[in-house]
Amino acid sequence: MDLMEALRTRRSVRQWTSDPIPDEKLKELVEAAARAPSGSNNQPWAFVIIREPGRLKRLRAAAPGIAGRAAAVILICLDRRLGDETPGTSEYDMVHLSLGAAMQNLLLAAHDLGLGACAIGSFHPASLESIVSLPPHLELKLLIALGFPVSQPDAPALRPLSEVCYFEEVGSDGEH
Ligand SMILES: Cc1cc2nc3c(=O)[nH]c(=O)nc-3n(C[C@H](O)[C@H](O)[C@H](O)COP(=O)(O)O)c2cc1C
Repeated sequence: MDLMEALRTRRSVRQWTSDPIPDEKLKELVEAAARAPSGSNNQPWAFVIIREPGRLKRLRAAAPGIAGRAAAVILICLDRRLGDETPGTSEYDMVHLSLGAAMQNLLLAAHDLGLGACAIGSFHPASLESIVSLPPHLELKLLIALGFPVSQPDAPALRPLSEVCYFEEVGSDGEH
């Protein structure tokens, strides 16, 4: 799929068929995520793929942000050994930007592979970390719920470019 087409047609998908996702596709998604740029190339991430039905059920109970029955969920974690986790430091901001880049790679790769994905920020970290027995050096930051889409959701309302894009200087009237 052409990249601009992928950017224009990607949607957050929250309803999925019951079809399982082949492991090869799940690994491809993580490969895409792990190709994201990162500050100082520190690659401060780890990805945990959950697709076993019993564990998915417990995971859904701890993640109110997941609306439907995802065929798989990928946990995006910060590896504290690779990035400073002290709020207020520039490195703290940097690792979160890097994890955001990994998230976007993953979402676009899912779209390209015919999957539907949704980033999930609404979850109970402590419950989830115990469900997957995360080691202490990994901190759960975001979930990606995935499956084969039931339908293509409507496009969300976007702020007009004239409101967010400026050449040279930011005009007080919002025009470029
Ligand atoms: C960091 C982040 C957290 C999000 N958390 C949730 C969530 O908990 N539940 C949910 O249904 N959608 C969640 N979303 C999806 C957004 O609602 C969605 O991206 C936004 O409405 C724009 O729609 P689009 O992705 O189709 O362009 C999240 C997105 C991001 C980037």
